[in-house]
Amino acid sequence: MGSRLEGKTVVLAGAGGALGSAVARRCAEEGVRALVLADLNVEVIAASAEELRGAGVTVEAEHLDVADGDEFEALIASAAERHGTVDALVNTAGIVSPNARIHHLSTQDFERTISVNLTGTFHGIRAVARTLRKRSPVSIVNIGSVSGLTAWAYAAPYCASKAGVIHLTRVAALEYAKEGIRVNAVCPGTFPTALHETLPAEAMRAIEDKHPLGLGSPEDLTGAVVYLASDESRWVTGHSLVVDGGYSLP
Ligand SMILES: NC(=O)c1ccc[n+]([C@@H]2O[C@H](COP(=O)([O-])OP(=O)(O)OC[C@H]3O[C@@H](n4cnc5c(N)ncnc54)[C@H](O)[C@@H]3O)[C@@H](O)[C@H]2O)c1
Repeated sequence: MGSRLEGKTVVLAGAGGALGSAVARRCAEEGVRALVLADLNVEVIAASAEELRGAGVTVEAEHLDVADGDEFEALIASAAERHGTVDALVNTAGIVSPNARIHHLSTQDFERTISVNLTGTFHGIRAVARTLRKRSPVSIVNIGSVSGLTAWAYAAPYCASKAGVIHLTRVAALEYAKEGIRVNAVCPGTFPTALHETLPAEAMRAIEDKHPLGLGSPEDLTGAVVYLASDESRWVTGHSLVVDGGYSLP
């Protein structure tokens, strides 16, 4: 399809999910030199790695719990050692919180969502900064959400985690701009995936009604991710690119 990632080594955290798999396929189509797929669910990424190897791409599948900072750092360091560097890290790992108002949530409900969505993103940025700062240029692409820009009832931990991802992206961009690391985010509207399995059908219909262009698909987001991961966005940092079918217009 293209060559926007030609010669690049890309690490995808959360590569086993709907968005992660679509990004992996798109990276392969854009001529990536090596892909490191990382996820809690090793079986899924092993299958996806097998498929991409069949298409001639160098792909590795690694276990990663983004909530574990040491594991994230070891993943980035070992990928950089094997491939000479890591050119881009895409943080797509994420979980939703229970569909409930704040007074029904436990501290654990809140902290679990924060530990994966926000602390996991922090771990990814820190791992890149510790390993590659001042060494070679890296583009970090975090996945935020329109829920980090607008308030959703019944989703406080998720919204708070995504608002945190957006602001963390800005701070990290500022801290590392002069040391070769760009940090941006993509903020998707809703594209139905496993994340929505627990939502009642009427809630899903209400969400769909709020998207003027209708609900999206993972493939609707891969162009934005590739743009931010590639050199085409070399003068862009700290930005949260909204890709939401018009959700946030009103
Ligand atoms: N689907 C949507 O409508 C939507 C909208 C806005 C933002 N997002 C965000 O996009 C990202 C991808 O969402 P998706 O819909 O593809 O979800 P998904 O459930 O299909 O994929 C999420 C992936 O993250 C992995 N994961 C979960 N916890 C992990 C951990 N601790 N360490 C490593 N991997 C872990 C899962 O195994 C899974 O492979 C998430 O950050 C999500 O919050 C999704």
